Amino acid sequence: MRLENKKAIVTGGAGGIGRATSLALAAEGAAVAVVDLNAEAAEAVAEEIRAAGGTAIAIAADVASEPDIERVIATSLQELGGVNVVFNNAGIIRRTTAVETTVEEWDRVFGVNVRSIFLMCKHVVPIMEAAGGGSIINTGSGWGLKGGGQALSYCASKGAVVNMTRALAIDHGPAGIRVNSVNPGDVNTGMLRDEARQLAQDTDAFLAEAADRPLRRMGEPSEVAQAVVWLASDDSSYVTGSALVVDGGGIA
Ligand code: NAI
Repeated sequence: MRLENKKAIVTGGAGGIGRATSLALAAEGAAVAVVDLNAEAAEAVAEEIRAAGGTAIAIAADVASEPDIERVIATSLQELGGVNVVFNNAGIIRRTTAVETTVEEWDRVFGVNVRSIFLMCKHVVPIMEAAGGGSIINTGSGWGLKGGGQALSYCASKGAVVNMTRALAIDHGPAGIRVNSVNPGDVNTGMLRDEARQLAQDTDAFLAEAADRPLRRMGEPSEVAQAVVWLASDDSSYVTGSALVVDGGGIA
């Protein structure tokens, strides 16, 4: 039990990586606030944790909204009794070039993928400071490190996540707050199927292409979850500002 007595917030907690990580954090003893736009799916994940003997609550929220983020933190403090770990993981993708991307889509991608992390840190860092420290993990992407095709706003947003993570680590390290990004390659979640749909490609062919890397398969959400558990726990006590890549070897 590496996270006994820890309280964790997981955003996008109802999705592929978020659900797997919520379950993995709870399995290590953390009480988890499962945060998602999809209220019903978040409640199902919280219920799954409780059924396995863990502690979890579900909170419906839009992570791009400051009032929603403030409510998420207040509810977590009230119901769980603190916040030691935050996994800023909610994210969306638009598979379009600069020419094809509308200004509204650009702003929404940055709202969900980037502003959300700023808002969460703005309001949760003082709480972690008062508690003597904490661990924040942000979901970047291989495409935030290398770039990728037909996903301009997404690549820009994930690049921002990776560098924002380094800046946060510098600012808040002295207070004992570690901030790292986890950067998955293609992981078997609804997001990949959504991408196939956006690109009007056959889903099976799209997923087969996603397996074209040294380990010859896509990642599973649980494999990203284990990296997040490590970053959340004291096992990674001297790791901050890092961009941990979980991609089966090579992303381009
Ligand atoms: P997913 O689509 O299964 O899960 C995303 C979750 O975020 C969904 O449950 C969705 O309802 C929630 N969400 C979306 N907008 C939200 C908002 N405004 N407020 C609250 N919740 C919101 O996708 P997946 O793959 O689990 O994605 C998780 C993270 O991993 C994302 O940040 C994504 O960019 C990143 N990622 C995923 C990769 C993949 O291959 N699946 C690769 C690299 C990064």
